Amino acid sequence: MGLSRELGIDLGTFNTQIAEGNQILQQEPTVVAIIVDEMKLVELGTTALSMMGRVPESIEVIRPLRFGVIAEYELTEIYLRELIKKVTGPTLFFKPRLLISAPYGVTSVERRAVVEAGLGAGGREVNIIPQPLAAALGVDLPIGTPTGNMIICLGAGTSQAAVISMSSIVSAYGLIIGQPTAEQLKLNIGAASPVQEEKTMEIQAQDQVSGLPKPASLTTNEIVEALQPPLEEIVASIRRVLEKTPPELISDIIDRGVALCGGTSLLKGLDKYLTVALGIPAYVVENPVTCTVEGAAKGFSILEVLLRSQGR
Ligand SMILES: Nc1ncnc2c1ncn2[C@@H]1O[C@H](COP(=O)(O)OP(=O)(O)O)[C@@H](O)[C@H]1O
Ligand SMILES: [Mg+2]
Repeated sequence: MGLSRELGIDLGTFNTQIAEGNQILQQEPTVVAIIVDEMKLVELGTTALSMMGRVPESIEVIRPLRFGVIAEYELTEIYLRELIKKVTGPTLFFKPRLLISAPYGVTSVERRAVVEAGLGAGGREVNIIPQPLAAALGVDLPIGTPTGNMIICLGAGTSQAAVISMSSIVSAYGLIIGQPTAEQLKLNIGAASPVQEEKTMEIQAQDQVSGLPKPASLTTNEIVEALQPPLEEIVASIRRVLEKTPPELISDIIDRGVALCGGTSLLKGLDKYLTVALGIPAYVVENPVTCTVEGAAKGFSILEVLLRSQGR
């Protein structure tokens, strides 16, 4: 009640955010630097990331999540505890209530691990909101009405496609997309469809024969080609969801379009690529990187619906 704060958390493979009401209070890469022997936190987030490859052997820089799920349980708890403390201050006299987003399709064990990490990190009560639902809430799609709303969340290594109606997921599909082989490439010059004006980037490639590093240059259109397999997988997963969706809801989706969010939705030309591949208009939402956390914070208002749909 009253005294306890309600924090929405987007615990992502790459980035984690905390919001309260409609304010984003924390935004950090999901990274910790720890003294391995003592499991003691040195730094987290951006500062920890900047230490990568620059620290003595006693310190390790680690991403505690992989493909949307917790890989390093204790480190996730430590990371969350410190990030929450940045919001609440060091004394957790009134422990906050937490609503944490988790990818659609994770197992109950993986969900339980997130709840436990949240409790261990100082949460008074911890609940889970499926990421597509959180994102749709954060985008203000009319999900509380009996209409079909489709959202695609494209993160780092996970992608989820969901159709939502009456605040519940009607059909959905979660997918692991192989760890982006070339983060830097995707960010600097990547695109989903061939572009007119090509950019070039110098990289250190590996010689296929000798195995030694050798300089090489790649153009945007070469990267477009490299990105085709994961993009095709994403299209297939969206089609699978559409196939399981009742026709009444499909006609809403055709009218309103498919909402795209998550860091990878920023890939140049992705909206056009998906529009062509699906034959349904796809558009990037206005708040693609913050909608999940914004929706998680809003989720407290539909907590009962959420718990019911999780059979609780
Ligand atoms: N401009 C961009 N073009 C393509 N990909 C991008 C861009 N900006 C960020 N990304 C990708 O977004 C991913 C991170 O998105 P995010 O939604 O924060 O992931 P997660 O929720 O899994 O932590 C990274 O894989 C990164 O490469
Ligand atoms: Mg995310």
